[in-house]
Amino acid sequence: MSTDVAIVGAGYVGVPLAQVFAEAGRSVLLVDVDAARVERLNHGDSYIEDVPSETLKRLVDGGLRATTDYDELRDADAILIALPTPLSKQREPDLSIVNSATEEIAKRLRKGHLVVLESTTYPGTTREEILPRLEASGLRIGEDFNLAFSPERVDPGRLDWTTKNVPKVVGGITDTCTERAAELYGSAVDTVHRVTSPESAELTKLLENIFRSVNIALVNEMAQLCERMKIDFWEVVDAAATKPFGFMSFKPGPGLGGHCIPIDPFYLTWKAREFDFYTEFIELAGKVNENMPWHCRSLVSQALNHGKQKSLKGSEVLVLGVAYKPNIGDMRESPALKLIELLEAGGANVSYHDPHVAELPEHGLSSVPLEPAKFDAIAIVTDHAGIDYEDLVDSGPVIVDFRNATGERGRLSANVWKL
Ligand SMILES: NC(=O)c1ccc[n+]([C@@H]2O[C@H](COP(=O)([O-])OP(=O)(O)OC[C@H]3O[C@@H](n4cnc5c(N)ncnc54)[C@H](O)[C@@H]3O)[C@@H](O)[C@H]2O)c1
Repeated sequence: MSTDVAIVGAGYVGVPLAQVFAEAGRSVLLVDVDAARVERLNHGDSYIEDVPSETLKRLVDGGLRATTDYDELRDADAILIALPTPLSKQREPDLSIVNSATEEIAKRLRKGHLVVLESTTYPGTTREEILPRLEASGLRIGEDFNLAFSPERVDPGRLDWTTKNVPKVVGGITDTCTERAAELYGSAVDTVHRVTSPESAELTKLLENIFRSVNIALVNEMAQLCERMKIDFWEVVDAAATKPFGFMSFKPGPGLGGHCIPIDPFYLTWKAREFDFYTEFIELAGKVNENMPWHCRSLVSQALNHGKQKSLKGSEVLVLGVAYKPNIGDMRESPALKLIELLEAGGANVSYHDPHVAELPEHGLSSVPLEPAKFDAIAIVTDHAGIDYEDLVDSGPVIVDFRNATGERGRLSANVWKL
């Protein structure tokens, strides 16, 4: 069966991408090594919150399919790669998944194929890693097949900006590669922005994420200073945000989370070394942000000390919200995991409540009901909607609020310690 678009990797990026192409009337095939995921997809049973099951069912009825069989790639016009690009234990780029999948694609490559890498990575990956693996098939770029990079910019859980309406940046190895990729995306997303090389497209995505990481580090550092100066930093950020130009609001927090911001900047750091260059902003931001869970543990300890005359050791602490951001259940790189580990190492008895995360197997914990009176301290790590945070303020335990969730009421209460 012929397919317009095959997407390799049916995760947070691949599934919403499949939705956008399917809704534009293209025939779409998702290819994933995880047989259980493939089965769920083919039954319209979604595991990606951004694509609800009822939407997926409608798309499956309309012809969207999933498979574990790479051989089906032969019949696709375009192959998009949306596979994980993690860091190794030594915090170096780990392209093993993308590279081995590319070798599998090369075995099925045929004349006329368009291949696009969507995974976040350092500048040079498409040309230095993907291209030679594809050309090992004997086919030649430009003559036989086309290759481009186009970064995915989806922000899971976000409703206003989605895969459909966030402009798609596209850079191909040749001009024709760029044009073919731009034409494909243009058939499904609202706006396509062309750049002159895959390297520009690769670095675009990294610049966006490094920009966030550096700015988050800046406010995290200022929040720590403001604690000493007894200035409410949240009020300062809100006030600065009233400036209509030249300022963009970032909020402090208990540390970076998710698949992107804690990881992607180090892809560039690694590549920069090849050019005798040290990306000091990235390193410094990483250092400040990685220290935040330690700082937050010390805040919990201080709050118990002054608010309850108790030490951290032996205290009952509830971590409220463990996902890395509000209103989704994504735990990847969540700073809550580090904070729980540190609180436990400090002797606290830690429980957690999160309406989106039922279990934390690595900590042997399950979400408990939100019963404030059972705890000495509640640490608000992730401010999911649907919880009355102001109501917690006078519920008994000391409240340590890393998200300014308790608002004005929290600011006025001696029972609340804010980051
Ligand atoms: N999640 C985000 O918010 C986001 C946003 C922008 C960019 N990105 C980037 O997009 C890429 C993909 O991220 P994701 O969040 O979708 O990952 P994910 O972990 O949600 O999904 C990856 C999928 O690939 C599958 N897979 C693993 N190895 C495979 C193989 N060899 N062949 C076929 N399938 C395989 C897994 O089973 C999984 O379903 C990463 O480079 C990431 O940095 C992610």
